[in-house]
Amino acid sequence: MRLQGKTALITGAARGIGLEFARAYLAEGAEVALADVNAEAVAAAARDLGPKAHAVTMDVTDQASIDAGFAEAIRRMGKLDILINNAALFSAAPVAEITRKDYDRLFAVNVAGTLFCLQAAARHMIPRGEGTIINMASQAGRRGESLVAVYCATKAAVISLTQSAGLNLIKHGINVNAIAPGVVDGEHWDGVDAFFARYEGKVPGQKKREVGAAVPFGRMGTAQDLTGMAIFLATPEAKYIVAQCFGVDGGNWMA
Ligand SMILES: NC(=O)c1ccc[n+]([C@@H]2O[C@H](COP(=O)([O-])OP(=O)(O)OC[C@H]3O[C@@H](n4cnc5c(N)ncnc54)[C@H](O)[C@@H]3O)[C@@H](O)[C@H]2O)c1
Repeated sequence: MRLQGKTALITGAARGIGLEFARAYLAEGAEVALADVNAEAVAAAARDLGPKAHAVTMDVTDQASIDAGFAEAIRRMGKLDILINNAALFSAAPVAEITRKDYDRLFAVNVAGTLFCLQAAARHMIPRGEGTIINMASQAGRRGESLVAVYCATKAAVISLTQSAGLNLIKHGINVNAIAPGVVDGEHWDGVDAFFARYEGKVPGQKKREVGAAVPFGRMGTAQDLTGMAIFLATPEAKYIVAQCFGVDGGNWMA
């Protein structure tokens, strides 16, 4: 029960890693607002998780929706101790085929969404003099990838925002850090696999098998593999950790 008495808002929590984080935080005693643009899915997810889980419909690309979502979460839980900026979109294309529409869409969710949710949380946390903000980066933010220019650039921006916000907010007692997963199996990676099937002529499932075999640990990650770091970063033991990005990736990347 390391998060007993704590409250958290997790964006993109209707499925995948965000949903697993919600489950893990609840198991540690926290109360959790699951925020997602998919209203039906997030309502169903929160219902399954019990009375300390609250569904909040929020589009992280829409400032009015962010403001309303944070206000609702804080009203229902009384305060906000922890934000996990987890909502994101993925896309892949050769450079010659990247569209401005796709670029705008990914930067709106992955970068502007992260920044303005972080800002909403910080405005609540600054007067309280404490808080934890965890941004979901990616190994894709550490280096470019041939077919993944836009997504990689968004995740590099998330690492940079983590550094600047971490430095700016630590004087208010707010720790901002990031987690950089490697390849995590789930619906997200089903989509990634489909992109590579299209652009590299692979059969469905082939890219997943290849990336899993290439992980030094010997397999793709699971959402559960990431929960330890997400819990630890929200505990008092992590208070001296500021503006860092931690790889939880089975050894794919050495920072
Ligand atoms: N799965 C991986 O291999 C992997 C690897 C590295 C980093 N990550 C990062 O981890 C995080 C979670 O990944 P995942 O695999 O669970 O992804 P996912 O696609 O399974 O889940 C993303 C969630 O975000 C929500 N979302 C999308 N747009 C939104 C918006 N505008 N407002 C609010 N919610 C929105 C979706 O509805 C969905 O529930 C993401 O930041 C992702 O980039 C994932």
